[in-house]
Amino acid sequence: MALSFFTKNKKALLARCRDDHATKMRLKYAPFYHAIESQQGTTVRLDGREMIMLSSNDYLGLSFHPKIVEAGRAAMLKWGSSTNGARISNGSRTFHLELEEKLAAFLGREACHVHAAGYLSCMSAVAAFAQKGDVIFADKNIHSCLWDGIRLSMATVERFSHNSPDDLREVLAANNPDATKMLVLEGVYSMEGHIARLPEIAEIAEEHGCFTVLDDAHGFGVLGRQGRGTVDSFGLNDKVDVICGSMSKSLASIGGFVAASREVIEYLRTHSKQTTFSAALSPAQAAASMAALDIMQTEPEHLEKLWANTKKYRTMLKQLGLDTWESETPAVPIVLGSKERVYPFWRALMDKGVFTVMSIAPAVPAGKDLIRTAISAMHTDEQLEKIAEAMAYAVKKL
Ligand SMILES: Cc1ncc(COP(=O)(O)O)c(C=O)c1O
Repeated sequence: MALSFFTKNKKALLARCRDDHATKMRLKYAPFYHAIESQQGTTVRLDGREMIMLSSNDYLGLSFHPKIVEAGRAAMLKWGSSTNGARISNGSRTFHLELEEKLAAFLGREACHVHAAGYLSCMSAVAAFAQKGDVIFADKNIHSCLWDGIRLSMATVERFSHNSPDDLREVLAANNPDATKMLVLEGVYSMEGHIARLPEIAEIAEEHGCFTVLDDAHGFGVLGRQGRGTVDSFGLNDKVDVICGSMSKSLASIGGFVAASREVIEYLRTHSKQTTFSAALSPAQAAASMAALDIMQTEPEHLEKLWANTKKYRTMLKQLGLDTWESETPAVPIVLGSKERVYPFWRALMDKGVFTVMSIAPAVPAGKDLIRTAISAMHTDEQLEKIAEAMAYAVKKL
């Protein structure tokens, strides 16, 4: 009896995997998981063809910078390939402390903690601090890692309309004023390219005593002085309690960070499961991040080129009549509204040698199905011209 019960349940799970509609569709149309055969900056090779990468988050175009590549190589020679353990036990190294001090100083914070993935950092920036009985006020369009952090925290969640201070005010007013409150938002929204309306939102959060967590994965390196991010660009450093982010975008590495006051970071080091039970950032990735941070402060040309390219690209898309969801940053969506329109557009771009990524509901709100594109400082004028030709071709396919 017990055996047949076990067998039945095991089969049910196997059947779920085998019969899953979304997986079948993914395998049939193969829009994701393309294995790139080689890469040199914004040029990649896929299925033997050279293509222009137009969806990488390498905003500053630093992932092939000789100083960064050399820093990673030297770190691996000195420290080996892995930390082989969590920071709390055997995985902590002096280079972690050095990187954390540099990031904290750059962000105008007392302290910082780095993780092996941005996902871990941003998830723990919520889950470590909020708990059952608290109320989290979250922008409807935040990244999946923040939703996971919210779920793990067991706090009650209240969503407010995307980037809407008015709706946030209403939602806060309708809630228990005595509850312990957290506000969760992004500095730059990864799909939309919108910049948070931080001056209004931070003021409301302060009025209501919210502890504010801001994920700046896409604002870091892109906005603010030398790329210090969204909070710096508004001069609101004292209004945001925690800035978290990723090192896999402008920092041209892998990993993530949480920056805040010393006591907040020490609390995270005690209570965050993602921090205490996951292996520490690798030597090469930490060294790459550190070198990139240095380059951001000594070579302003990358940030300048990023914005020059972004302006050219947005003008080009506007001339073609494409809807960019009013993106204000180098993360530029092309909203097409349905998967039936997104697929042929994406296919046409691929045929013309431009690599982009589709994002369809429920990954984006219904009716906002889009192609996610992102500009890099590495894109050349010649590549932008080729992209313009490919876009014009794809528009005709709609
Ligand atoms: C807004 C945001 N936060 C966090 C992350 C997670 O960062 P990582 O990919 O470095 O784990 C991402 C990655 O796409 C992101 O877009």
